[in-house]
Amino acid sequence: MPPEAKSVTTEEKSPAQRDTLAIRDNRTGRDYTIPIERDAIRAMDLRQIKVHDTDFGLLSYDPAFQNTASCQSAITYIDGDAGILRYRGYPIDELAERKTYLEVAYLVIHGHLPGKSELDDWVHDITFHTMVHENVKKFIDGFNHDAHPMGILVSSLAALSTFYPDAKKVGDEGSRKLQIRRLIAKIPTLAAFAYRHSIGMPYIYPSNDLDYPSNFLSMMRTPSPTLIREKREVDEHLAHAMDILFILHADHEQNCSTATMRTVGSSQADPYVASAAAAAALYGPLHGGANEQVVRMLQEIGSKDKVPALIADVKEGKRKLMGFGHRVYKNYDPRAKIIKKTADEVFAVTGRNKLLDIALALEEVALSDDYFIKRKLYPNVDFYSGIIYQALGFPTDIFPVLFAIPRMSGWLAQWQELVMDSEQKISRPRQLYTGSPERHL
Ligand code: CMC
Repeated sequence: MPPEAKSVTTEEKSPAQRDTLAIRDNRTGRDYTIPIERDAIRAMDLRQIKVHDTDFGLLSYDPAFQNTASCQSAITYIDGDAGILRYRGYPIDELAERKTYLEVAYLVIHGHLPGKSELDDWVHDITFHTMVHENVKKFIDGFNHDAHPMGILVSSLAALSTFYPDAKKVGDEGSRKLQIRRLIAKIPTLAAFAYRHSIGMPYIYPSNDLDYPSNFLSMMRTPSPTLIREKREVDEHLAHAMDILFILHADHEQNCSTATMRTVGSSQADPYVASAAAAAALYGPLHGGANEQVVRMLQEIGSKDKVPALIADVKEGKRKLMGFGHRVYKNYDPRAKIIKKTADEVFAVTGRNKLLDIALALEEVALSDDYFIKRKLYPNVDFYSGIIYQALGFPTDIFPVLFAIPRMSGWLAQWQELVMDSEQKISRPRQLYTGSPERHL
């Protein structure tokens, strides 16, 4: 048996000792000391912990990565308990109030806000890369008339890889820079084409004289008479609201789609196929598809008096309250607060969306109910964004696409960070095998 560890107070320990973790393996009685860095231990340090010399070593088991950091990142900071979100150190509310999406995309990707000439070059480059090859239209044409626009977006992002074989040079800084500009510029065009195809309307080409959100709204030209008053005239308040929504969705550290971007990117696949995979992850109803589900849920509720019945179903575990809860936020999602304010700006132009009253009633009941309080379930970004999108005249199918457009800058920033990180290797999790021992036919 090992000797009893002498009790030493934290103050008595040297700084080197303080930043370590002492582990005793009760299977063997052996002691190990593992360094702690940034409040984390390296999982590989556990491998030295063995019962026999020939053992593989101790693994950590973490389905769904609930307590595993897969990278060091300098892009986005979230304090889920305090409801804080910052891009490159700047609070999200300051950015949403004072910057455009393209400035924020530059910030997320480059690490600093652009100076005047940097911004001019950036906006120029993005603007002049918005066109897609004519053949892209042809294969979008091949989708069924009622194809979900997110399915079209995922496929067309992947297809861009075949148009830009130079993108395979992921280690080349110049190539990365070019693909980043192309992807941020082209995703609104692909999104708008996907949408126009899904409603059986002709595609509208990008307009280089419009800013990023106005160009997108112009290419969408939804049937909403308030969205586009006349050909190419986009309401500036609505374009501004769209821009804020883009800012709020730009990045959110290691969420499901970003983790996918990094995983696929770690095999040195090009950023087109990697972002197609990320978009596929975003498509799911527990991620970017949630805003679509929120609107469907609110439509199904239909009126405020039906809210208690829905809450009762949720508490009985019959269904989830879509747009509520978050893996990281255990407080009000700071993006949801800003979206709530943006809604007023939109409704001043479009008229109030009656779903908002149901949403507000639902939020009030949920936030005062023990079930939600105990589990720290608050509205997330998707709870109100769908209501705004609907007021803008967008059908529910397009909502996850509206999320994917700005998230492209986050995916690319994270991909770039991954490619430049000398500690990163191809992603390859371990497993705990639970199948049959060796057997024979
Ligand atoms: N409605 C009702 N109960 C919920 C909900 C909800 N929306 N979310 C979590 N819970 C309950 C869950 O049943 C569990 O209860 P119990 O402890 O009794 O088993 C507890 O809260 C903890 O939930 P969890 O499933 O362990 O939490 P998670 O971190 O795995 O899931 C989530 C996070 C976002 C997937 C989940 O909250 C959810 O499904 N929400 C609805 C979908 C949604 O709005 N997604 C958008 C997320 S924000 C945008 C984005 O980043 O994609």
